[in-house]
Amino acid sequence: MIYRPRRLRSSGIMRDLTAETFIVPAKLIMPYFVCEGKNIRTPIGAMPEIDNVSVDNLLRDIESDAELGIKSILMFGIPDYKDDIGSGAYADDGIVQKAVREIKKRFPELMIITDICLCEYTSHGHCGVVENGIVLNDPTLELLAKTALSHARAGADMAAPSDMMDGRVGALRDALDSAGFHDMPIMAYSAKYASAFYGPFREAAGSAPQFGSRKAYQMDPRNGREAEREVMLDLDEGADIVMVKPALSYLDIIYRIKEISPVPLCAYNVSGEYSMVKAAGKLGMVDEERVIQEILTSIFRAGADMVISYHTREVLKKKLV
Ligand code: PBG
Repeated sequence: MIYRPRRLRSSGIMRDLTAETFIVPAKLIMPYFVCEGKNIRTPIGAMPEIDNVSVDNLLRDIESDAELGIKSILMFGIPDYKDDIGSGAYADDGIVQKAVREIKKRFPELMIITDICLCEYTSHGHCGVVENGIVLNDPTLELLAKTALSHARAGADMAAPSDMMDGRVGALRDALDSAGFHDMPIMAYSAKYASAFYGPFREAAGSAPQFGSRKAYQMDPRNGREAEREVMLDLDEGADIVMVKPALSYLDIIYRIKEISPVPLCAYNVSGEYSMVKAAGKLGMVDEERVIQEILTSIFRAGADMVISYHTREVLKKKLV
């Protein structure tokens, strides 16, 4: 007798009933880029359908996205002014702080996550303070903590440090606790690889490093065990959620971290991953909608509890779940 999986694939109902993985809208996080000014909407060249918008337009986008069912958002600020210590990141009237205050007022139910990093705000494009061409770890921690604190005061619900400095989760935790933000969780970009897939994001943020690269602080794509170590360190320092980034070339890392981490796991389906799908779809080379579904399914199947994706809006709009 040959064993046959009897009729388990015979109908849509049966396939759904037996499926192991679903794309659940509540588990998707939509990223936004916000800039200074009024009525600004600048398309991001390599990321069709994703714009850099001023606060007024951001509120319009969020309103229609909330109607679609988007519940969690990730904020990136694109400041007008950059300097060598990234002061726009921790200014109380910085662009993210202003946006968060307005979003919280209009959409109190929304979960607002803010990216904590200096690279969008530094003139040299590095994620920390630079001296003699070297990124200084410890002096950067203080500025990151100040950034998280000013986001918290503006009304952010969760801090997501993406800088990859050592000790930043602990520095953020201490700063938030001592200011009374004991309940604010930290989602740490724990296993963040030095990746070419961030290219379109850096174009959008004007944050490509002016010299050198981020290889000194972001992870080497050749290493898997190192991701486990980074996660352990962040957990020791108090991370509430850990992240693997990018997602697609790192599905094995997502799987590995899922096995060892006692806290929820987020995966970031990054800008370059989005751009590739959009480009191939536009050229008619692939069935874009099915590819998006398959990619997101693979990230969840690998073990992610939640996914940050620029596809979130279209997934909800076109019901690609
Ligand atoms: C800031 C940051 C980056 C991304 C998220 N936070 C860029 C980088 O590290 O160069 C990338 C996101 C994406 O590519 O979608 N450090």
